[in-house]
Parts: sequence; structure tokens; C-alpha cells
Amino acid sequence: MGARLVVISNRVPVPDPEGPPAAGGLAVAVMAALRGREGIWFGWSGQVSDDPSDEPRTQVHDGISYVVIDLKEQDFEEYYNGFANRVLWPILHYRVDLAEFNRADLSGYVRVNQRFALALSRILRPDDLVWVHDYHLMPLARLLRAQGHYNRIGFFLHIPVPPPDLIAALPHHADILGALVDYDLVGVQTDNDRENLRRYLRSRGADRTGDPDVLALPDQRVRLGAYPVGIETDEFTRMAEASAGSDIVGEMTESLGGRALVIGVDRLDYSKGITHRLDAIERFLAHAPEWRARVTFLQVTPKSRVEIPEYAALQEAVSGTAGRINGAYGDVSWTPIRYVNRSYAREELAALYRLARVGLVTPLRDGMNLVAKEYVAAQDPGDPGVLVLSQFAGAAAELDRALLVNPHEPEAVAAAILRALEMPLAERVERHASMIEVLRRNDVSHWAENFITDLTGHPASSEIRETEP
Ligand code: F6P
Repeated sequence: MGARLVVISNRVPVPDPEGPPAAGGLAVAVMAALRGREGIWFGWSGQVSDDPSDEPRTQVHDGISYVVIDLKEQDFEEYYNGFANRVLWPILHYRVDLAEFNRADLSGYVRVNQRFALALSRILRPDDLVWVHDYHLMPLARLLRAQGHYNRIGFFLHIPVPPPDLIAALPHHADILGALVDYDLVGVQTDNDRENLRRYLRSRGADRTGDPDVLALPDQRVRLGAYPVGIETDEFTRMAEASAGSDIVGEMTESLGGRALVIGVDRLDYSKGITHRLDAIERFLAHAPEWRARVTFLQVTPKSRVEIPEYAALQEAVSGTAGRINGAYGDVSWTPIRYVNRSYAREELAALYRLARVGLVTPLRDGMNLVAKEYVAAQDPGDPGVLVLSQFAGAAAELDRALLVNPHEPEAVAAAILRALEMPLAERVERHASMIEVLRRNDVSHWAENFITDLTGHPASSEIRETEP
């Protein structure tokens, strides 16, 4: 069966036998990596307790061991709400203006990474393959190495890497992003992210080697690669096909009353550009009066990170703007924008995507954006809808047959909505065929296999150390 795969992420969605399988991009990606392997998924349980035990709790489901620890309230505040989501998240999404740094949060971040390293020390075996996910855990390899773990350790960053000048705005960046050199392999979403990280590490003294993807420091070698994360393309298409006749399709079709549906689905986050999108919808309604009362915009936005003030302020801004537009353009029998703060099961989303003539995915900055990919996968190839996609989503590199837009220009997004609604069938079919082919070629299983192959094919740190003079 080969080496065990130990996956580590901030949150671990331990399966609930009564409930639906874990959704969300990271969860689906990690499940694809663990499938068919002897695997462990380690991380935070999502629970906060006064005096959490250092002994991790383990549950086994379908051959995968889910190993979790709880966090203290102070850890949750400083590590998760603080440094990860009020400092790293905005800076890595190019929003240095929103970063709220303080040293206590940085200490909390390092402390929780240290707790993860200590708890992992109890379960790691020397030949385990270790794969760490996302910005919450950047220094983890350094801390594991300090405890004598020379396993092959890979890291995948699900969110963007900004240019080195923006990374430099992060206080103590050398201890955070600089610590990525302790991994054997660092994967990012796009070539642009890889180039930004390469330039940053070069500015920190890492040298080129004979292999263009490998950088060297006196004691380390790190391979960088772009691995655009995919979706379960065929399964998602099947789910969308199977939705015909489902309750949600029936209810939605009836409530649309023959109007065209335009859909947006985003976690409530400033990186998603939801207020900019609403501005564009307003322009569209103002400048395409012939479409008024013939189109319904559905914005599905589950709330997220609600303890963080920027997120609470965003909720006010989005609901206020949607209400204002509805007040200005709606009438007794038509509400232009339906704004919904809840999450839907994957099957329900697949059904809604298939019904929608247009998918609006217009983040200001996004590592990948799997909604864009799922929207394409859900379409009927004989009569597909049109994807309007931000040029600043990682997905734009692969989905270049979408209508690509700059989300900062509401007139351009409004024009793209109009073009999408009026696009002739032949053009829709051709664009969809080209994009679905890309999504089939690089689905989430390929993504996981590519990363693991590169991680195992690369000499482990222990081997480098042993062969060095
Ligand atoms: O990829 C971005 C990410 O932060 C993931 O790490 C996480 O699974 C997802 O977004 C949801 O975020 P949160 O766990 O903060 O709700």
C-alpha cells in the first residue's frame, strides 16, 4: 500500500454519519488525496474548550483516521481570527490595507503551530508522507524538523501569493513565508503565484539550481510547483444531470416564472467582490431596461468568520446594497436580487448551477475559485449557460473561454452579463466544450496525484542531509 499519507489542515471535517459529506474546496481536495491510501487527516476539531487535552482524539471512517485537537479560546482568537484571518488572509489577497497586525496574534499563531507539531510528533512515523495545507500552517515543517522529523513534507497554499513587495508588508514575514523553504515541495495554484513566491524566496537569499523549479539555501532545497486545484468533474456533472425533477429544481423553476437566472455563490468575504458585483448588476439594470423583469439574480452567500469586524461590516454593506437595488428596480411581482445567507448541499448547488443561464464569479482576488469550475461542470453541453469570470481568479488561467472581466469596472461586468444572456447557442456550446475538456483533464484526482508524485519523486530532506559533505 506504500507509505502512509498524513494530511494536515487547520480544520478537519470529521464525517457525520447522519449528515452530508464534507463540502468546500479544501475538504474535497483532501478527500481526493486520501482516497485509496492508508491515510490520516490531522487538525483542529473546530471546537474551542477551556482546557483542551494534548492527546489528540481519533475516529476512523472508511479507512481514514481523523485525528483532531481542540483549541483554547485564546488560541482561536489569536491564531485563527487574529493572525491567520486578519493578517495573512488580507495580505495574501493583496489587501494590505485591511491587515491588523499585533504581536500577540503572531505569538498565538506560532504557539498553535507548535501545538500541532507536538501532537503530530506522537503519531508520525519516519516513512510517513506529510502534506500540510494552507496559510494557517506555514511554519509547521520548520517546527517538525526542529523535533527531528525528516519525512518528506509538502505544503499546498490554496490562496494567492502576492508579489514580494506586498509580502514584505507582513511583519516577520521571514519567519512565516520564509519558513516555507523547510518543506520539500511547495505547491501553489497558478504560474503567477509560483513566480511571486520564487521571486520572494530569491530576495531572501535562495539560489537557483540546475533545475529551474528548485531553489537552494545552504541547508535546504525546496521545489516549487503550480498545481491548479480541480473538482470532481464527472461526478459534479452527473449530480447536475440527476437533479432534473428534484424538489429544488421544481421550486426554483416555478418561482422564476420563465425569467432567466443569473447565479453567484460565494462565502461572505471581501475578496469575493460581492459589493462590486452588485454595483455591476445595478448598471446592468439601468442600461438594459429591456431585461428588467426578465432576469433574476440569485446571490447565495453563507456567512463566514463572523467574529471578525470586516466580515460583519461586509454583511451590512451587501444586504444594504441588495435592498437598495431591489427598492429602486423591483416591483410587486419581481425582485431583481434574491440574497440568501445560507449554504446548500452540493447536489442542490449543482441543480441551481444547471438552471442558471449565467454564472457570475467576480472575485477581486482568489486563489482558484471552484464555483467557476463547478458552474461549468454542471451545464448541459447541448444548451449550456455562460460563465462570467474575474481575470483575478486563479481559475481564469484554465477557463480562458469564459467571459473574462475586470471586477473593478462595473460597466464591463454589466456588459458581460448582457453579452452572456444574449449569446447565441453555437458560441455557448463551443466555449463550454473547450472548458469542460480542461476540467476533465485536470480533475481533483489528477491534482492530488501530481502533487504526491512530485513530493515522492523529490529527494527527502533526510536524504539531502545524509548526502551532504
Ligand atoms: O482555502 C481557503 C480557506 O481558508 C480554507 O483553508 C478553508 O477550508 C476555507 O477557506 C473556509 O475557511 P474557514 O475555515 O475560515 O471557514
